[in-house]
Amino acid sequence: MKTKVLFVCLGNICRSPAAEGVFLDLIRKKQISDQFHVDSAGTSGFHAGEKADRRMRDKAKERGISLESLSRKFLESDFEDFDFIICMDGQNFKNVKRLDPSGHYGHKVFMMVEFCSRFKVHEVPDPYYGSEDGFNHVLDIVEDASEGLLKYIIDENRKK
Ligand code: 4NP
Repeated sequence: MKTKVLFVCLGNICRSPAAEGVFLDLIRKKQISDQFHVDSAGTSGFHAGEKADRRMRDKAKERGISLESLSRKFLESDFEDFDFIICMDGQNFKNVKRLDPSGHYGHKVFMMVEFCSRFKVHEVPDPYYGSEDGFNHVLDIVEDASEGLLKYIIDENRKK
């Protein structure tokens, strides 16, 4: 059985495609890609069907990571379809939780920054209206968190 991981932000054109690309790169390097299904989504559908933001794609490319995803809106069915739903900021987390009023899927929903070990930050900041540096900062945080997330998943799967 594959472990299904969904990264979530607002527009699904900057942070969550970056997280998806970084996590995919990590599991590819560890040769465990076949054990995972990885996707990303936005709590808004404003950019549905679009490629990741050019600035995010360029910064990821500089690190050897190609972002291939197309934006889509988070769906209620994602609660069933994924094992880990990883939110980039507090607003995304709240919006996802709001779609699960009974809390039935609460155990699947996390903040990306919970898995950071080097960065002491509360969320992955929205880079959309900021400078180029913001996109590199997103990648730095997401790289740190991806390592921790993968370790967490491997530990959880061992317990099953
Ligand atoms: P993301 O960034 O949530 O990381 O994809 C944003 C993308 C678009 C907008 C805001 C944030 N927007 O306002 O259109």
